[in-house]
Amino acid sequence: MAIPLVMLFLCKLLLLLFSQFCYAIDTITKDQSLPDKDGSSLLSKAGTFELGFFSRGSSGNRYIGIWYKNIGVRTVVWVANRDNPVTNNSGKMVINEEGNLVLIGQNQSQPPFWTTNVTRKASNPIVQLLDTGNLVIKDGDNNKDGAFLWQSFDHPCDTLLSGMKLGWDLKTGLNRRLTAWKNWDDPSQGEIVWEVVIGNNPEIVMWKDNVDYFRSGPYTGEMFSGVYAPRNNPLYEWKFVNNKDEVYFQYTLKNSSVVSLIVMNQTLSLRQRLTWIPETKTWTVYQSLPRDSCDVYNTCGPNGNCVIAGSPICECLEGFVPKSPQQWNAMDWRQGCVRSGEWSCGVKDKDGFLKFGSVKLPNSTFSWVNQSMTLEECRVKCLENCSCNAYSNLDIRGGGSGCFIWVGELADMRVVESGQDLYVRVATSDTDGKKGRRKKVILAVTIVASLVLLMLLAFCVYMTKKKYKGKPETTMSTEQKDSERQEDLELPFFDLATIVNATNNFSLDNKLGEGGFGPVYKGLLVDGQEIAIKRLSRSSGQGLKEFRNEVILCANLQHRNLVKVLGYCIEGEEKMLLYEYMSNKSLDLFLFDSIQSKFLDWPMRFKILNAIARGLLYLHQDSRLRIIHRDLKASNILLDNNMNPKISDFGLARMCGSDQVEGKTNIIVGTHGYMAPEYAIDGLFSTKSDVFSFGVLLLEIISGKKSKAFSYQDHEHNLIDQAWRLWKESTPEQLIDVSLANSCSVFEAIRCIQISLLCLQHHPQDRPDMTSVIVMLTGENVLPEPKEPGFLIRRASNEREESSNRQTSSINEVTVSLLNAR
Ligand SMILES: *[C@@H]1O[C@H](CO)[C@@H](O)[C@H](O)[C@H]1NC(C)=O
Ligand SMILES: *[C@@H]1O[C@H](CO)[C@@H](O)[C@H](O)[C@H]1NC(C)=O
Ligand SMILES: *[C@@H]1O[C@H](CO)[C@@H](O)[C@H](O)[C@H]1NC(C)=O
Ligand SMILES: *[C@@H]1O[C@H](CO)[C@@H](O)[C@H](O)[C@H]1NC(C)=O
Ligand SMILES: *[C@@H]1O[C@H](CO)[C@@H](O)[C@H](O)[C@H]1NC(C)=O
Ligand SMILES: *[C@@H]1O[C@H](CO)[C@@H](O)[C@H](O)[C@H]1NC(C)=O
Ligand SMILES: *[C@@H]1O[C@H](CO)[C@@H](O)[C@H](O)[C@H]1NC(C)=O
Ligand SMILES: *[C@@H]1O[C@H](CO)[C@@H](O)[C@H](O)[C@H]1NC(C)=O
Repeated sequence: MAIPLVMLFLCKLLLLLFSQFCYAIDTITKDQSLPDKDGSSLLSKAGTFELGFFSRGSSGNRYIGIWYKNIGVRTVVWVANRDNPVTNNSGKMVINEEGNLVLIGQNQSQPPFWTTNVTRKASNPIVQLLDTGNLVIKDGDNNKDGAFLWQSFDHPCDTLLSGMKLGWDLKTGLNRRLTAWKNWDDPSQGEIVWEVVIGNNPEIVMWKDNVDYFRSGPYTGEMFSGVYAPRNNPLYEWKFVNNKDEVYFQYTLKNSSVVSLIVMNQTLSLRQRLTWIPETKTWTVYQSLPRDSCDVYNTCGPNGNCVIAGSPICECLEGFVPKSPQQWNAMDWRQGCVRSGEWSCGVKDKDGFLKFGSVKLPNSTFSWVNQSMTLEECRVKCLENCSCNAYSNLDIRGGGSGCFIWVGELADMRVVESGQDLYVRVATSDTDGKKGRRKKVILAVTIVASLVLLMLLAFCVYMTKKKYKGKPETTMSTEQKDSERQEDLELPFFDLATIVNATNNFSLDNKLGEGGFGPVYKGLLVDGQEIAIKRLSRSSGQGLKEFRNEVILCANLQHRNLVKVLGYCIEGEEKMLLYEYMSNKSLDLFLFDSIQSKFLDWPMRFKILNAIARGLLYLHQDSRLRIIHRDLKASNILLDNNMNPKISDFGLARMCGSDQVEGKTNIIVGTHGYMAPEYAIDGLFSTKSDVFSFGVLLLEIISGKKSKAFSYQDHEHNLIDQAWRLWKESTPEQLIDVSLANSCSVFEAIRCIQISLLCLQHHPQDRPDMTSVIVMLTGENVLPEPKEPGFLIRRASNEREESSNRQTSSINEVTVSLLNAR
């Protein structure tokens, strides 16, 4: 009985193959079937996705799958019978009596290989492949979207497409989760699973063979505590919904013609975001999780804290010591840390809290939450119960709200930019820091030291006053001082009048340039000292106090290759920073000018690039703060009258609040053409994204050419592309600036090109850190061979520029540096 129908279907297909006017079929109705034959497949209306039988490798196993129709590499995004393949070509898909879509073999009395499970029988079931990649069963043709009887989006395999939900439907108990394929040629369920875990505060967890492998950290209202993922990125938008009916994560591509997905990869043990690059016909990885060893679950053990730039990466939280010093020192941190002893619960002067900033919140399996409590109430609540070990805000929006309390040990903590403040219970002596303890021990010494310090301080104040006599008399008010912890430096405050006077009321003649965060003016103080004044954006969304703190922190950073902060000014809407004046302005003015560039011979360029590397290393590692610059570029390298380079604008990303976890956090600071792919696309920044920018800068210093924003049109002329092409052709010397012809050590320059390509590697983990860069620059060891550098998605480039501009005009005028305007 079914044979004539199959014939009919086949004829239809033949017709389809031979007639270009006929459109492909995207549905199966009750009296049709989809046999495992050449050319029999469903094609979604716009031709984006195709559904049919496929096999991988040599096994001959047949699977029903959905893949992209129009990209060169068959990428299967969903498999129906992943655990139960048909072993020969006799399978076919039909709609059965119950209205279920089933995959049956030749012998129809045997159980099907795969079946859907509709809860309601349709009178006129229709199976349709939608352009989103969703395979749905609906009742009749006129049923509304969302009212599907069944959909493949509810049963994901290893791929999360745009619009799919990862997480729970709490009413039906449906848990949509991703499970990796076992292997490239075996779609059956592997060991890597990625799912939303609902607890006190839901988060997304990756399991490897049923063991915790990576946590996103709890959702804090704005993002996940362990993953920085800006919503406002050029490629997609995402949301995390958490209400009584549903808890899920979902992303939506902004441009449906860009092909991008999230996939689990068993071989690499990673969750990756891949984007299809049509020009090169390859998938490119834009984000991988876990990112590094600190992301791996509980690397440092209970009460340990993972600091990826640290050496070693694990440290005990303050107030804790390694449980087993022997193993700890052998870099086996799994046992973690225990309290160092002095703490007694509930005893006055022995019990208190120490604040840790920027940490990924610990495993919250044993925790307690209350949405409406304040942080202070939370503290009190935690103090009441001796099992409480830490507390924090539940939601960080609007200055923070709610109470999140941890009972038991604190597992899986790390320092991460998206992290938040966690208050950990320790002995009060620890809360005063080590200074306090020392004081107790050697009291007399301290008294003497304090006396000396006092005298020194008095002397400093005297000197400062003397130096700025007649101009800025105000320093910090005592109130302000009380609230600060880290007050090492008395940073002069300048009043607005002084600055208006010094800059001739910000006259155009005094304007030195326009930086990423606002215009820069030259100023002349009454005593004849020249200074540079950076007038920060009025709209930057940070409070005065925070701003002041950041300024003071940054003023504490002192290195001969960093521009010195001389003072600051806050008045009304105005926020300004005063820097030492650099008479030779910025590096780009020399580098990209055909006449000026002649002044920069190779030895000088080599000296400059080494100095920049040392400045950057200081920011990354040696300074107390560990600053990620985020906008390193030639125009941010200033030159003093001896042509010594100094990095400027460091810490501005922090000062302007774009790094804070509140409010307008999603703003990507930086300049296209210098930004690492993972930063430009996903907003993931790290010291390694600075390394990428440094790589670009190196190429510019060697070639004398400017790296432009990545764009499709510019593709051929893109500096990174060009460097890579020449490198592959073994003619890297062609990249060297012609004006270096006489002064250049070709060997040194080629070595620098190789180093820069290493800095430009696509994966952050493939890039060296600044310590290694310096070793490479100064040493003569054989360098690793670079792989293809990372590029941004060329197709999305127009859109990206648009979105940056949008931010520029609406949210935070100057935090985004202009694209290639300068
Ligand atoms: C396909 O395999 C089944 C058993 O797996 C067998 O019964 C059937 O005869 C095979 N059909 C063909 C066409 O080889
Ligand atoms: C079909 O399967 C049934 C049940 O497994 C079996 O009894 C029957 O012999 C099979 N028929 C054929 C033609 O293989
Ligand atoms: C189909 O769903 C019902 C109830 O929703 C459940 O009891 C049954 O086990 C399911 N069957 C399969 C094969 O998943
Ligand atoms: C995982 O990624 C690697 C490298 O991109 C690839 O070769 C491999 O096929 C992928 N594995 C799976 C199971 O998709
Ligand atoms: C958190 O800790 C609990 C208890 O130790 C453990 O069962 C769970 O797997 C851990 N991981 C996550 C992601 O909750
Ligand atoms: C949460 O805290 C508020 C304010 O302290 C209190 O009124 C409320 O009862 C608490 N809720 C729970 C569930 O403990
Ligand atoms: C402390 O908190 C734990 C976990 O919430 C609870 O089981 C215990 O009863 C509490 N103890 C007291 C004294 O409140
Ligand atoms: C979407 O991408 C395509 C191809 O990359 C491009 O041609 C188109 O202009 C983009 N659409 C929008 C709205 O940006």
